[in-house]
Amino acid sequence: MKLLLAVSLFISIGTLCSAYIISNSLVNGNEIQTIYSSINDFEEKNPGVKIIPMDTYSNHFNLSRSYSLGSRQTGDAVVANINKNNKWPVVQNVTTTLTYPSSGGNGAFLTYVLINCEQSSNIGQAYVTYGGVHQHFIQIIVEAHVTSFFNYAAFFYGIK
Ligand SMILES: *[C@@H]1O[C@H](CO)[C@@H](O)[C@H](O)[C@H]1NC(C)=O
Ligand SMILES: *[C@@H]1O[C@H](CO)[C@@H](O)[C@H](O)[C@H]1NC(C)=O
Repeated sequence: MKLLLAVSLFISIGTLCSAYIISNSLVNGNEIQTIYSSINDFEEKNPGVKIIPMDTYSNHFNLSRSYSLGSRQTGDAVVANINKNNKWPVVQNVTTTLTYPSSGGNGAFLTYVLINCEQSSNIGQAYVTYGGVHQHFIQIIVEAHVTSFFNYAAFFYGIK
């Protein structure tokens, strides 16, 4: 009886804490406030905006995932990068917003974006919600669901 109670308490705490939002600016690695709690939330608040899923490579053996957009070009280099490690005592649905450049306006001419992720589940997707490659700005929403940790390293390549 006590065990049952403990289990149901654990599950309800898990449910309460199940959405976690991380948001980062890519310039100087400063954190900015979060905007969206999920891609669905983004779609509701921005009706009609085109959302592009990024190419996904997933490794089911070690649950690592990579998202990419565009391709490397002669003369490009990393113009912004960030990496973060997060973990939680109970699984979370995690949403991360990556914005380049964080100040708005134009950055380098972007050619390629790569985001390497590690998580404890194989549920995840990344979406371009604003800008893109061959443009000077981009916003990406990365979702990792039902995971107890989320580590990522993002590399933005471009020509200055
Ligand atoms: C997962 O496996 C891939 C391919 O074998 C490897 O490139 C990657 O480094 C591995 N990731 C971790 C976290 O071990
Ligand atoms: C968390 O993600 C899972 C899998 O995508 C989904 O079934 C569940 O409803 C989500 N939970 C919340 C609170 O959004």
